[in-house]
Amino acid sequence: MEVPLTATVLVLTLWLITLPNSSCSARRVVPDDFDLFDYGVVHHNTQTNEEGFSQEAFPEGWETKSTTRDSFNRVNPQTEEYDPQAFLEAWEAKTNTFNVVDYGAVGNGLVDDTKAFLKAWGAMCASSTQGTLTLLVPKGKRFLLNAVAFEGPCRASKVNFQIQGSIVAPNNIGSWTNKEMWIHFSNVQGLSVNGGGRIDGNGAVWWKACGSNKGCQRPTALHFNECHGFQLSRLALFNSPKNHISICSCNDSRVFGLLIWAPKESPNTDGIDISRSTRVAIQSSHIATGDDCIAINSGSSYIKIRDIKCGPGHGISIGSLGQHGEYSQVEEVQVSNCSFKGTTNGVRIKTWEGGSGYARKITFEGITFEDTRNPIIIDQHYFDKPTSAMDISKSVQVSDVTYRNINGTCADEKAITLACAGGGCTNIVIDNVSIKSDLPNKRSYAYCDNAHGTSSFSLPPVPCLSH
Ligand SMILES: *[C@@H]1O[C@H](CO)[C@@H](O)[C@H](O)[C@H]1NC(C)=O
Ligand SMILES: *[C@@H]1O[C@H](CO)[C@@H](O)[C@H](O)[C@H]1NC(C)=O
Ligand SMILES: *[C@@H]1O[C@H](CO)[C@@H](O)[C@H](O)[C@H]1NC(C)=O
Ligand SMILES: *[C@@H]1O[C@H](CO)[C@@H](O)[C@H](O)[C@H]1NC(C)=O
Repeated sequence: MEVPLTATVLVLTLWLITLPNSSCSARRVVPDDFDLFDYGVVHHNTQTNEEGFSQEAFPEGWETKSTTRDSFNRVNPQTEEYDPQAFLEAWEAKTNTFNVVDYGAVGNGLVDDTKAFLKAWGAMCASSTQGTLTLLVPKGKRFLLNAVAFEGPCRASKVNFQIQGSIVAPNNIGSWTNKEMWIHFSNVQGLSVNGGGRIDGNGAVWWKACGSNKGCQRPTALHFNECHGFQLSRLALFNSPKNHISICSCNDSRVFGLLIWAPKESPNTDGIDISRSTRVAIQSSHIATGDDCIAINSGSSYIKIRDIKCGPGHGISIGSLGQHGEYSQVEEVQVSNCSFKGTTNGVRIKTWEGGSGYARKITFEGITFEDTRNPIIIDQHYFDKPTSAMDISKSVQVSDVTYRNINGTCADEKAITLACAGGGCTNIVIDNVSIKSDLPNKRSYAYCDNAHGTSSFSLPPVPCLSH
């Protein structure tokens, strides 16, 4: 059903040019079924949209807050007439938009819309129309999706998965068709996922069924694999059965303006997990879950995290690394201007005994803590039953880790923990850190084992580091 674009544009242009200005009134040129205001978001410039969102309405009110900005004013303010350029853009947007409703999605929250979404995706992905193609999940509707894989490569160089409405997961486990991943994007280049809508993983049924059984398989809500250069922004994610977002093998990716929320008791509901990816930026988001807000796993480098509000949750973690004797590498990580409130950990590096590899060149800067149990922690003593092939005297090398301009309070007395393995952590720098205990009349302290480096202006003082 594709309209040949160049021809359409040409005809429209000629038509618009020949219309006398005075009669170019809005309502007469616009076809009836054509709501220009629906298309504002298509031209929203995701490249320059740096800002996050006010968290005041979290989690209620998110949808309205995030979508109001999208109403492009397509009327010329002087003449109060529609602008022909805007009309053309909107027309183009229409031919470039694949609305899931047009492919049979119902959006009442009850009927399974998975097949309709796949049809819309298939049509978009096969389309050779120029420009950015958009798969639209319209607002005001709730789409029930079972496990689904949106696979590339697509013919277009840019595809936008625009979620303005809600997507919800089935609420009974038996009907799930894939227990590992819910919404899976793989091998799509030039992908952006955004739109101001919400995604609800209905995790409660899984948390209840699995309890504390670690082997119990549960799906990740949003999984990105081999999607280099993708952008994920302006969405609210709730209640994933397991971690909310996995970013695997996706270089040059950006995530911003997300709200991620699950109850603090929910098991393993990490916010964002990154692995095997280079140059990933995560910023301006609020993450409140039952596990790590962000975890950076093996094979990741040049990761920048800033302006994240974390809590409740387990903090921002590097690792765990080196499980089952694995060789793990993480380097060049910058975590800046983040705040932690009521989290069990703040900034953490965790490695397993018996692993190898490294975690190095890591900076935590401009961090505030409020009521955090372990604000600064390196823990190299994760321990499991060793296999016979494993040499548990080995460890992942931790080096060149800087903590700078950090302020706040801890829930207990132990503010800083540097629990390094036998090989030691090297070049640990603590500079201008102040973490006081929340407990009345208690002083915070630092615990050190095999840590080497320097500290200056640190409260509590860190005895094992030189001054
Ligand atoms: C991703 O980055 C890594 C590290 O720079 C590189 O080895 C790999 O080739 C990159 N992959 C792609 C597809 O660009
Ligand atoms: C962190 O915040 C400070 C003060 O607002 C600012 O100067 C600095 O540029 C920020 N750093 C990053 C990486 O955003
Ligand atoms: C020390 O850190 C605080 C934030 O915790 C910052 O406001 C202050 O400017 C820093 N001092 C120096 C000398 O950098
Ligand atoms: C450090 O934190 C304390 C309490 O959390 C606060 O009163 C103080 O203003 C903060 N100082 C800086 C420099 O941010």
